[in-house]
Amino acid sequence: MTTATVDLGAIAHNLDVVRGVVSDAEVMGVVKADAYGHGAIRIASALRGQGVKWLGVALPREALDLREAGDTGRILAWLWAPGDEDIERCVATEVDLGVSNSRMLQEVCAGAIATGKKARVQLKVDTGVSRNGCSLSQWPALIVETLEAGPLVEVTGVWSHLANADIPNDRSVHEQRLLFDQACATAEAIGLVIPLRHLANSPAALLCPETHYDLVRVGIALYGVSPVAGNDFGLRPAMALVSTVASVKTVDVGVAVSYGATWTATEETSIALVLGGYADGIPRSASNRAEVFINGRLHPIVGRVAMDQFMVALQGEARAGDEVIIFGAAPTANDFARACETIGYEIVTRIGPRVPRVYVGAP
Ligand SMILES: Cc1ncc(COP(=O)(O)O)c(C=O)c1O
Repeated sequence: MTTATVDLGAIAHNLDVVRGVVSDAEVMGVVKADAYGHGAIRIASALRGQGVKWLGVALPREALDLREAGDTGRILAWLWAPGDEDIERCVATEVDLGVSNSRMLQEVCAGAIATGKKARVQLKVDTGVSRNGCSLSQWPALIVETLEAGPLVEVTGVWSHLANADIPNDRSVHEQRLLFDQACATAEAIGLVIPLRHLANSPAALLCPETHYDLVRVGIALYGVSPVAGNDFGLRPAMALVSTVASVKTVDVGVAVSYGATWTATEETSIALVLGGYADGIPRSASNRAEVFINGRLHPIVGRVAMDQFMVALQGEARAGDEVIIFGAAPTANDFARACETIGYEIVTRIGPRVPRVYVGAP
């Protein structure tokens, strides 16, 4: 059985690390995508217990899941398309909604009319990522339209997102910050009062104090996966993906292992069958590249990772029933990600629904 152990003590520690760096700014706990695979409901409740005022999610549905689980605090949901059937309910339950264009503004206004409640809106300006967020050319018009919406809308913040904060000293962070300041000044000149400004994600929170403003939106750092190569900032990995050796056998020289015969024994080799495959989130690109930890040492994955299982070439003794650490304290999710040519974010977030999350370290 493959299990994801989630250490809530590590999350509390990581929150302290971030708070220590950002001092006066609030820390928004980003719990989208099931808290990057760690389990949104449990993580949200742990963060609230640590005094986290704001939670951030991508989808309105994710915000409603938290509401339905009993969360009554501030939540910002920032990614949605016209026609999203959850907008009205978000307005009704006082979820703050990211708004990037006139169409989205009209939909939250419709939600306000339908529910009789003011829609809480955070206007997003695109300062350089070129995904969602209002283009600078459309920004003044969006501000005017928002002010004209009058009592239907309460603007609770203005924000933007950085493209390259994980690259130390990248010039674009400075350029995006200047554009953000200009966009805020434009909005104020038109008459908008801005109660909250935010720009930073985890790498910016950790590396770029000039981006902290009133609040930082922090996801990956809370989960203890460093967003910056070569610097762990004292963060502790919250998730360990742990499995079991199901069986051990010896293969002779010339024998191929797993689908497609992508690895063939060049000497008599002891191989272990490990439970866990791409259905559990272990990428197929780990085949013949990544290593896992068994009995105190690393062993290479050999042959293709399959849907439910993979094989390792044992570098020492192992027996059925032995524990296999796929990632955790060592190798870390970032180590595993490098071998798979991806990022630690993807490794933890993709852990599949059939992997039970076991929570340890609750205060
Ligand atoms: C808009 C926005 N803000 C903040 C975050 C959190 O980023 P990180 O996990 O690097 O802290 C994300 C995550 O992708 C995001 O999309």
